[in-house]
Parts: sequence; C-alpha cells; structure tokens
Amino acid sequence: MKVQLVGFGNVGKSLAELLLEKRRTLKSLGLDIFVVSVSDSKGTAIDGHGLDLDEVLECKKRQWNNCNKYKKDYAARDAIKQVQSDVVVELTPSTFNGEPGLSNIETALKARKNVVTANKGALVTAFRKLVKLARDNGVQLFYEATVAAHVPIFCMVDSCFKADEVLKIEGILNATTNFIIDEIEKGNSFDKALNKAIQDGWTETDYSDDIDGIDAARKAVILANSLFRREVKLEDVVVKGIRQIEAMISESRRSGRKVKLVCEIKNDGDMIKISVMPRQVSLDDPLATVNRGNMGLKFTFKTCGEVFVSAQFTGTMQTAYAVLNDIVRTAPSRICR
Ligand SMILES: NC(=O)c1ccc[n+]([C@@H]2O[C@H](COP(=O)([O-])OP(=O)(O)OC[C@H]3O[C@@H](n4cnc5c(N)ncnc54)[C@H](OP(=O)(O)O)[C@@H]3O)[C@@H](O)[C@H]2O)c1
Repeated sequence: MKVQLVGFGNVGKSLAELLLEKRRTLKSLGLDIFVVSVSDSKGTAIDGHGLDLDEVLECKKRQWNNCNKYKKDYAARDAIKQVQSDVVVELTPSTFNGEPGLSNIETALKARKNVVTANKGALVTAFRKLVKLARDNGVQLFYEATVAAHVPIFCMVDSCFKADEVLKIEGILNATTNFIIDEIEKGNSFDKALNKAIQDGWTETDYSDDIDGIDAARKAVILANSLFRREVKLEDVVVKGIRQIEAMISESRRSGRKVKLVCEIKNDGDMIKISVMPRQVSLDDPLATVNRGNMGLKFTFKTCGEVFVSAQFTGTMQTAYAVLNDIVRTAPSRICR
C-alpha cells in the first residue's frame, strides 16, 4: 500500500515512528506500507518506491539540509495529484476556514485516493461535501483521530451499533481542559492550573481554543454530522469555556460532585441540540471517572441503552495510532485476526 503524508509535525512524525515500530505487525496483517511522499509547509520528500522513514525523520530534524529526496517548494497538493498512491494522510493544522487541509482532502478524493485525517478544521467546514465526494469517487474517508484521539468512536459505532440509533452523546473531549479542572479540584487556582498545563505540555502556545471550549465544539460538530447525520456548523454549538470555573468547582466540592467540561449532543424531536459547557456531574456518572488529561464519551442508543468508552490520553503517539488504524481499515484485503 502506497501512502502519502501531508503535514509532518507532532502527529505526522509520531506516525512515521509507529510505521517503523509496527512494520512486522502490519506485515502479519498482510500490509506492506510504503510512504511515497512526505510534505510539510515548505516542500515534499518523494520516492515512488518508498522513503526510508528513519532518514526522513532525521532530515526533518535537520530542516531537510542535504536531503536529496526533498524538493523545496514542491507543494503538498501537487504531490497528491502527481505521486501515485492509495492513501493520503492529511495532518496539517486545524484552522477556522479548514485550509489547507480542505483543499488537500478534496484533491485526494477527486484523484480517487482514500483519505485518512486527524484534521478537525477541514471536517467542521465541509463534512457533508467531503463525505459525498468520497462516495462519488468510490473511495473511503476515515477520521477517527479527529475526535478524542484513540478513544474508539466512529469505528465502534460503525462496527457494533450499525443497526441502532444514537439518541444522545455526552463527552469529555478536550484533554487540556480536563487536566486544568483536575488541578483546580486539587486546590490550585485557575492561573496556576493553566501554568501547570503549559509546563507539562498539555497546551499549544495559543491555548484559547481549548479553554474557551472551541476545540471541544469542533469535535461536537464532527460527531453530530457523522453520527446524527446532520449538517451542523460551529455556530450551531452553544459554547462556554472554563475561564470562570473556580466558583463552580468550590460549590461542587461542597455537594460531593465533580465539574467537567461536557459536550452534549441530543436529538430533540426534529431538532438537534449541541452544547459545550462546564457541568456538575454526580460521582456515580461514568463521566466523573474521566480524570487528568483523559477523554471519554457516554452514548445513549435507542436499543442498547447506555455505552461508555474512555481512554487514557498521554500524547500524540495515540493520535498517530488512531490514524494508523484508519490506514489499515482502508485496505480491502487486510487479514482479520
Ligand atoms: N496533537 C494531537 O494529539 C492531535 C489530536 C487530534 C487531532 N489533531 C490534529 O492533527 C493535525 C496535526 O496536528 P499536529 O499536532 O501534528 O500539528 P503540527 O505539529 O502543527 O504539524 C502540522 C504540520 O502541517 C504542516 N503544514 C502546515 N501547512 C502546510 C501546508 N500548506 N502544506 C503542507 N504541510 C503543511 C506543518 O509544516 P512545517 O513542519 O513546515 O511547519 C507541520 O508539519 C491538526 O489538524 C490537529 O488539530 C492533533
């Protein structure tokens, strides 16, 4: 299987490391994966027979100095059009207008290539359009890593609850805010908790998307569009972040509850209601068990009732794992264990 990587930052590099580490496991599944191009914002490394990923990781560290396979200014979109491949993995930054990921994904789908992405921005902007484009071109579009990294969501619903109906989802979808809330519950101020999150590597330089609830809202939009088959936009989500959360945490401590930034999506007749809000949850609610930087979701299905999934989140390697699993899912002839 020939794979193109577009975006070679935290997740892209972790994916390259995983592909090296899991080569034998993948072979045992009947998969020989060759990465034929790696693009970043300044150019593309190409080898139609498969790049040496150890070398590519080294080259990226040296900012591609003396790397003869790297063509400066060769844009990712040109590589998608011109380099033969089966799967394009889109890992550029999530932005408000979806670009450059949106155009990269469209280009790949139009070229009849499967697409795997962790890029929320592109899906929030044009979910229905991209799903239709994939269907019209007879290829697959997988995006497990866009919501809560490796916590099984779309894979799980698709394989275990195909004939059921999701009525409601409540989820803790942002690791950074959950970590900060955890620190405040231990007695720290908001500012101290935020500083600890920055020091421990839980935040980006610009952390406002996390603490203002925007990152969780983007994930809610993807969940609603995918699992409730709607066409909602970011503006449809009622959002409140955690900047003013200290008083609520003090009150919840007194009443024996926990505070969580909860994303809720529910069918309300013909309407769908979506919110991201700090909420007090009782200790017997499974969401109360999602601590530190972990993430989890409680689904209510029409037939099967409540199903809760959660996972420890420790970093980009797990996001990369969700991407790798999606790459494996695109292979029609993979060997099932
Ligand atoms: N980090 C996580 O655990 C996580 C979890 C879920 C989803 N995601 C999503 O996954 C995506 C990647 O995240 P990340 O943490 O790896 O981001 P990152 O470290 O900022 O890396 C982004 C990469 O995209 C490249 N890029 C930017 N503009 C480009 C363009 N026009 N053409 C080609 N490449 C371009 C950058 O190039 P340079 O290297 O030249 O700057 C960089 O290599 C994002 O959409 C993020 O929201 C991440």
